[in-house]
Amino acid sequence: MYDFKIEAADKASLYAELTEAAAALVAGEPDPIANMANVAALLWESLPELNWAGFYRNVGGELVLGPFQGRPACIRIPFGKGVCGAAAATLEPQCVADVHAFPGHIACDAASRSELVMPIVAGGRLVGVLDLDSPVPGRFDQEDVAGCVKLIQRLETALAGMAEEGTKG
Ligand code: SME
Repeated sequence: MYDFKIEAADKASLYAELTEAAAALVAGEPDPIANMANVAALLWESLPELNWAGFYRNVGGELVLGPFQGRPACIRIPFGKGVCGAAAATLEPQCVADVHAFPGHIACDAASRSELVMPIVAGGRLVGVLDLDSPVPGRFDQEDVAGCVKLIQRLETALAGMAEEGTKG
């Protein structure tokens, strides 16, 4: 059983603790889908004010729905379309305070008001994106971006399926 208690006073320590917990979850497991599933569950449980947390994978140059928590979502997103597609096309984090003002935003859940999408690049290849949605306008800021950059960097080989198999503690 995994029982992480993430209780941090500020965002920087919250993401630092989350990164350690996520690294422990994926340690020794080479399957990227299993790792995405556990990381999505951890983020969903630990980050406040989310209505969706999960992954889209780069499958042949198209984003395809991966492991997530939240309401059922659109399955395929072309690069360049919506917030996720923008992150995939630019390889830059997309921090959107008001999704209604984002051209081409794809409304999977009408409750979503703000969104953070992080590209995941490993070995020079776009593996996919991490997508966090919130019903609260302006929920994400540069501290969330910085925290997620470090989290993704730490997990990129595990999320890409490039991690070496090891012994699970
Ligand atoms: N809103 C996203 C689509 C994915 S869902 O939010 C889960 C977008 O515009 O890319």
